[in-house]
Amino acid sequence: MTETIRTIDALRSRLAWSRMRGRTIGLVPTMGALHAGHAALLDRARAENDVVVVTLFVNPTQFNEAGDLAAYPRTLQADQGVCNQAGVDILFAPDEHEIYPREPHTTIEVSGLASGLCGAHRPGHFRGVATVVAKLLLIAQPDRAYFGEKDFQQLAIIRRMVADLNFPVEIVGVATVREPDGLALSSRNRLLTAGRRKAAPAIFEGLRSAQALAAQGETDSAKLRAVALAPIELEPELQVEYVEIVDPESLEPVKRLAGEARIAAAVRAGPVRLIDNVALQPASQ
Ligand code: PAJ
Repeated sequence: MTETIRTIDALRSRLAWSRMRGRTIGLVPTMGALHAGHAALLDRARAENDVVVVTLFVNPTQFNEAGDLAAYPRTLQADQGVCNQAGVDILFAPDEHEIYPREPHTTIEVSGLASGLCGAHRPGHFRGVATVVAKLLLIAQPDRAYFGEKDFQQLAIIRRMVADLNFPVEIVGVATVREPDGLALSSRNRLLTAGRRKAAPAIFEGLRSAQALAAQGETDSAKLRAVALAPIELEPELQVEYVEIVDPESLEPVKRLAGEARIAAAVRAGPVRLIDNVALQPASQ
């Protein structure tokens, strides 16, 4: 039975007790509205740790549009059910005042990695993410923390922050879970109208075409990008924000594929912003 904890003090004393007994702790930070993508993180954490802690906090500082924050789905009861099913020990669901008792003067900026891709379109977003993840890591002090590859830029930023600041935690990346038609699972998918939901798989279709072309030997990023854009631009319900090919660690744009790269896309379907990415492996010579 998952225990729901609301305060930092209560979580800390519960985890101190586990740590004293030599138990390893796995942390899965989330904003709730849990779906099968989150469940993959929970399963991995369950398999690798003695104690699994899921955090549920809709972090206001990472929302750069008030409407997006207001529309964000909140489904605590269902989330408790998902955690129970997955054998999660603790669901940490603090309120906003618990995490931000006052306006913080200290924030975390991961320069370079946060400026391109989604960072260019969502000012302040990654400062909000890095800061809240740093706080959650310091609150729970887990042995491992789990993040999805679906949010590839977020994962790269967190890896870099943890390396730069010597956080004593192992960051584990988990592959993207998709609907049968290829659409990456996201809490925001439930906000799509039927028409936009039907159009949305074109994003993964485009990314996969670029992946296939790279595997056949194409190394020119402009050509790979054009192939990825084609099916998305055919859908009047979808507006491309960006499609870019980047280095998987530095997130610097790649002009010509030499080693592994990542192709990432952000697309608007009406008010809903969808992101996705896949690996590009150049053909072996
Ligand atoms: P949220 O969007 O709830 O996602 C929580 C975690 O689940 C993230 O690591 C995300 O990458 C992962 N995830 C979401 N959809 C996935 C999918 N289809 N397949 C695999 N993993 C998936 O990301 C956040 O919350 C927040 O920014 C957070 C890290 C909690 C900080 O507030």
